[in-house]
Amino acid sequence: MRKPRVPINVFRERRDQLKQMIPGSALILRAHPEQIRNHDVHHSYRQDTNLFYLTGFDEPGTVLLYRPGLTPESVLFVRVKDQERETWDGFRYGPEGALKNFGVDAAYPIEEFEKLTSEWLVAVDKIYYNLFTDEMFDRKIAKTLLGTAALRRRSGRGILPIYDSYPLIGELRVIKSPYEIATLKKAAQVSAEAHVEVMKATRPGVNERHLHGIFLKEIMARGAAREGYGSIVAGGSNSTTLHYVFNDQDLKGGDLLLVDAGAEVDYYTGDITRTFPVSGRFNPIQAKVYQMLLDLQKSIIQSVKIGVVFSKLQELTIHGLIELMREINLLKGSSEALRMDQKWRKYYPHGVSHFLGSDVHDAGRSEVDGESRRLEVGMVLTIEPGIYIPQDDLSAPEELRGLGLRIEDDILVTESGPENLSQGAPKEIVDLEKIVGKP
Ligand code: GLY
Ligand code: MN
Ligand code: MN
Repeated sequence: MRKPRVPINVFRERRDQLKQMIPGSALILRAHPEQIRNHDVHHSYRQDTNLFYLTGFDEPGTVLLYRPGLTPESVLFVRVKDQERETWDGFRYGPEGALKNFGVDAAYPIEEFEKLTSEWLVAVDKIYYNLFTDEMFDRKIAKTLLGTAALRRRSGRGILPIYDSYPLIGELRVIKSPYEIATLKKAAQVSAEAHVEVMKATRPGVNERHLHGIFLKEIMARGAAREGYGSIVAGGSNSTTLHYVFNDQDLKGGDLLLVDAGAEVDYYTGDITRTFPVSGRFNPIQAKVYQMLLDLQKSIIQSVKIGVVFSKLQELTIHGLIELMREINLLKGSSEALRMDQKWRKYYPHGVSHFLGSDVHDAGRSEVDGESRRLEVGMVLTIEPGIYIPQDDLSAPEELRGLGLRIEDDILVTESGPENLSQGAPKEIVDLEKIVGKP
C-alpha cells in the first residue's frame, strides 16, 4: 500500500479554512483527465493543483465534493480497485483506502458521482466549480444539476447557480502557511543546487538537452518529483524566445546561456532563472548589460515589502529597464517619452512578478476591487526582470543582437522585509565566472 507523503491534517485544515468562506454552498473539484502522449503511452500524471491542495489525493479519475457543515461534509469519488489494471499500472487506493488514508467523511466509486451528488446537492444554495476547462466533465455537472433540480421540482428554485472555484481557492493559496513556506524553501533550495550543477557542466559544444538532463537528475536526486514547468535551457539567441521549448542546440563559446528551471517538491515549485556565459567569461558588453540588469533586479527585490502594491514592482522595473536601454543605445529619446510610447515593450514584453506556489504562475488575485493588491506577510512571488533583443532586430546595435538575459529569484514577504528563497543560486559576475565550466 502506498502511503501519502504529506500528513493529512494539512489538507483537513485547509478544508476547515474554506468552510468559513462558503456556508450553504458545495464545492466540486475534479482531477484532470489522463493525456495520451503517443499510441498507448500516457504523459506522466500530475494531480490538479486545487484538488491536491484540499485532499492530498493524487490519482486520476477523482472528484471531491465538499459541503461545509453538512453530513457527509467531504466526499471523495475515486477509481475502484481493479486487480488487472493494478497489475499493469500500479496501486489504487479504491474507496476503502481513500476513506482510511485521506481523512474524508466518505468515499465512493467514481461511477456513483452523478447519482449521489444530485441527491447531496439538494441541501445547498449554490455550487463552486471551475467551468469550461473540461467539456466531458462539464456535461456530467450539467446532468448532476438537472438531477438535483428534478429532485427539488416543486421548490421552484430552478438550477443551482455555479460560481467559479478558481478565485475562491486562490484566496486560500495566496498567503502561504508555515508548512507551505518550508516546502517552498526546500523547492527553491533544490532548484538552486541543481542550477549550480548545470553551471559547472556548461561549456562550448555541450547540448542544451545535456544540461536539461543534468537539472532533472540533480533535482530528482534531492527528492523532487519533477520539474515545476518545462525547463528553458536557451543558448545564444534562443534566449530571446521567452518560453523556449526545444532545448536541443549545441552551445557556442562567446554566447550567453539562459536557464529558467525549477524543482517541484511535494507539489511546490521553485522558479529560478540564471544567465551566464557559455565559455565562463562575460565579454565587456555582456558584462555591462548583465551588471545593470542585476543591479536593477536587486533593487526591485529590496522593494518587496508589506504594503507595497504589486503594480509598483512593474513600474520600478520599467523605469530601470528604460534607463538600461538608453545607456546601451538600444533606445533613444527621453525617459518620459520612451515610457509613454512603450517602445521598451519590444525588448521586455512580460511582467516582473507572479505569485509562486503549487503552480508556477500561482493562484491569487494581483488586483482587488480594481486596485493593485498590497503585499502581505506570507506571499511568495518572483522578481524577474529581463531584456531580449532579437537577432534580426536591425534597429539594435549589432553587438547587442541576439542577447537575451533574465535574472529571477523567489521572494517571501516577511515582517522584516524580503527573504530570497533562491539565493543558493549564485548571480554575481565574479561568482558565475568561478563556477561555470568547472566540474
Ligand atoms: N518559468 C516561467 C516564469 O518565469 O514565469
Ligand atoms: Mn517566473
Ligand atoms: Mn521562470
